[in-house]
Amino acid sequence: MPDPHVPGQGPPQGPPPDPAIFAALGEEGMRRMLRDLYRALAASPVAHLFPSGEAALLEAADRSALFFIQVCGGPPLYSRFHGPPRMRARHLPFAIDGAARDAWLGCWEGVLEGCGSRYGFPEEHLPGFRRFLVEFSAWMVNRA
Ligand code: HEM
Repeated sequence: MPDPHVPGQGPPQGPPPDPAIFAALGEEGMRRMLRDLYRALAASPVAHLFPSGEAALLEAADRSALFFIQVCGGPPLYSRFHGPPRMRARHLPFAIDGAARDAWLGCWEGVLEGCGSRYGFPEEHLPGFRRFLVEFSAWMVNRA
């Protein structure tokens, strides 16, 4: 029986977030949103997985922002600076189980509350963005 924690295929094939998201937030808004996410992660049950110093934490947030810029319709900055995304492989060194995924998604929920006024997030595209987070994060789970 195939191990569900080692998917044979690539990332989920659902639609990416709407490009209107990057058009509205820009690089600056996306960076601010991801920095807020990482601050929330640092105070969450999965804090131990993330860098502990403020500078290293913000650096990690900025790396993630490059990916979200790319996936939300912006220029391919992540690939340009870090190469092929290979997100599942890059997450393998970290023990991510279902509970870790739920904690990560919970941090996103906090950030998405009021994201319209905070970052200029186009709220009509929240459902599609949430769907992306839910589907893509399932692909990051690498421990039973
Ligand atoms: C939609 C799903 C996800 C996306 C798009 C995503 C994206 C990213 C990106 C772009 C990076 C930076 C990779 C690099 O170093 O170049 C990263 C790092 C990381 N992610 Fe995720 N991630 C997702 C889900 C998760 C989940 C569910 C967890 C579980 C807690 C997680 C934990 C981590 C950790 C621990 C790092 C390393 C941080 C560091 O030390 O730099 N991610 N993620």
